[in-house]
Amino acid sequence: MNAARIPLVAGNWKMNTTVPEGLALASELRALALPDGVEVAVLPPFTHLWPLYDALGGRFALGAQDAFWEDAGAYTGEISPASLSGWCDYVLVGHSERRHLLGETDEQVSHKLRRALTHDLRVIVAVGETLDERERGSTIDVVRRQISAAFEGVCLAELERCVVAYEPVWAIGTGHTATPEHAQEVCHVIRTLLDELDPAADGERQRILYGGSVTGENAAALFGEHDIDGGLVGGASLNPAEFFAIIVAAARSGAIT
Ligand code: 13P
Repeated sequence: MNAARIPLVAGNWKMNTTVPEGLALASELRALALPDGVEVAVLPPFTHLWPLYDALGGRFALGAQDAFWEDAGAYTGEISPASLSGWCDYVLVGHSERRHLLGETDEQVSHKLRRALTHDLRVIVAVGETLDERERGSTIDVVRRQISAAFEGVCLAELERCVVAYEPVWAIGTGHTATPEHAQEVCHVIRTLLDELDPAADGERQRILYGGSVTGENAAALFGEHDIDGGLVGGASLNPAEFFAIIVAAARSGAIT
């Protein structure tokens, strides 16, 4: 973490909780004494977004787990970024579960990113290699390809509304967290790539998150790395005490460095 950047902890609930369960979880989160110096976002399922907008009491940013690349039309089951704009803060695009389980391509991720950026939304762009790609030594090539494809045609002002989340697929939901050294190495490359996108870009200002089995126990070591500015948290975000420990670790990392 670098003191110039405010850490972000985003809880991706994925397809977990019913609406009543989500509201109960939100009321537990609302009771937490959030530390200063960290931004915390909650990304619940779509059905929960509107009720949580009220239930979170404005103390947490709110984010959607995806949004489509068109604003309106005959796209059954898709969610328009226009419908999220003005009250939702973040949209996540390119999550590996969408890339690998649902076949989402780099090009589709790029379309989603660019459409979301036409609205008043900040975008978390997730990238990361599979175990097979890691074992073949192509982590950096994969991340470079995903970043260049996603950000093609994105201007500097738009880039500043983006956060990149490095989530190695092999670390997601497995308990096999990347070592802080590995996560730092890849996040550093991502920062350099963001720097290269525009001659005026200042990669030092961009927030880069790590995601993949982040817990209250390993968060401080991960967030202590220079190029890691917080976390995109799955399973642990469903447990208020665990999520709180991660939030505190992020706030401390911002205060220390
Ligand atoms: P876990 O924290 O459950 O590994 O999930 C990470 C993730 O995919 C967040 O988007």
